[in-house]
Amino acid sequence: MKKTDFTLKSVRRLTGDGNAAGDVYELVLSGDASDISAPGQFVHIALPGRFLRRPVSVCCWSAEGITLLVKEAGAGTADLVRMGPGTRLDLLTGLGNGFDLTGLDTGRTVPGRIILAGGGIGIAPLYGLAAALRERGIISMAALGFRSAADAFYLDEFAALGCTVSAATEDGSLGVRGFVTDLLTAAPERDYVFCCGPSPMLRAVHALPHLTGGQFSFEARMACGFGACMGCSLPTADGMKRICKDGPVFTREEILWQET
Ligand code: FES
Repeated sequence: MKKTDFTLKSVRRLTGDGNAAGDVYELVLSGDASDISAPGQFVHIALPGRFLRRPVSVCCWSAEGITLLVKEAGAGTADLVRMGPGTRLDLLTGLGNGFDLTGLDTGRTVPGRIILAGGGIGIAPLYGLAAALRERGIISMAALGFRSAADAFYLDEFAALGCTVSAATEDGSLGVRGFVTDLLTAAPERDYVFCCGPSPMLRAVHALPHLTGGQFSFEARMACGFGACMGCSLPTADGMKRICKDGPVFTREEILWQET
């Protein structure tokens, strides 16, 4: 974990009209990203006048800085997406355990098709993952779910990485009418899935019988963000684990779902 000042370089609105909760923005920040080691990690952002930092998945990173996708979901994120270029931001970087790409290097056995299954803002870390897989010579399939066509974003960006992109929307206004699971069950093969999105989506994908395995990134409200408060605990096959410190990525085998 590293505490670093970043400079906001640009803010680009990806969905909506800029006046509503739920709109999604792309933020590009320059600064030292050297503590980030895997796609799926997150940063914790301090916002002026706000007591708690905000956890945001890293979309992608380079030697120059990081790109974040932020969904406006409250006063803190509303402040964040309306900050102007040049704003200095205090970030904790290198947080969490991201996606494990061990065994997915070029020339090693790939366990079936590689599917990136994302829902809404959950697609953000999958973009960096797609880039990391491409560096290893692996072209993945991106199955992305949104409420409607108006809520869709980053389809072209995934395609530019060589991904085969398919979309599902709840109202059928883009791609298949339905959910990400409908994309994954349309022509099931031996699929290994990297999944990020809301909990019901994770659970539905986790239950698909044809998967050879997978890794699932969980979202959670976080206080400390680095394992100190136990406020983000998740039951697993190995006992309670902290989403912020032990995750946010967990394997298909270790995830346990509590009855609701
Ligand atoms: Fe404190 Fe996870 S947010 S332990």
